Amino acid sequence: MMEQTLSIIKPDAVAKNVVGQILARFEEAGLRIAATKKIRLSRVDAEAFYAVHKDRPFFKDLVDFMISGPVVVSVLEGENAMAKNRELMGATNPKEAAPGTIRADFADSIDANAVHGSDSLENAAIEIAFFFPQREIY
Ligand code: CMP
Repeated sequence: MMEQTLSIIKPDAVAKNVVGQILARFEEAGLRIAATKKIRLSRVDAEAFYAVHKDRPFFKDLVDFMISGPVVVSVLEGENAMAKNRELMGATNPKEAAPGTIRADFADSIDANAVHGSDSLENAAIEIAFFFPQREIY
């Protein structure tokens, strides 16, 4: 099924200068970059984006980390894009991420874990709309 999903390349991976390498992995896996931009999230943005986690103990550290530097947000499109992106990313905790995944190769810790990807199609639609008006998605 043709799908769209949201990807965020987090501040740690942007600082390591591996944005191009990560985007290339999406393209090599057959996903198309339908939209992309580099932005710096405000605290209000990051708290709203991660609102589902607001009662979790890691919420403040997560928000602090996500606003510590610019991020690259993209809409990825393709067959099974949501699941395919999650497979490419690997497990949330890089220590548990399979060899060859983005997090195994580029992430340092569960907070500085290089990338975020939507975890359902319903969330993908919400997350895409959070960053991109329809006219910026091609
Ligand atoms: P992400 O996919 O961006 O979604 C929420 C983020 O919270 C997650 O990646 C991790 O970077 C971060 N996080 C920190 N601690 C935890 C935890 N115990 N469980 C899940 N996510 C965590």
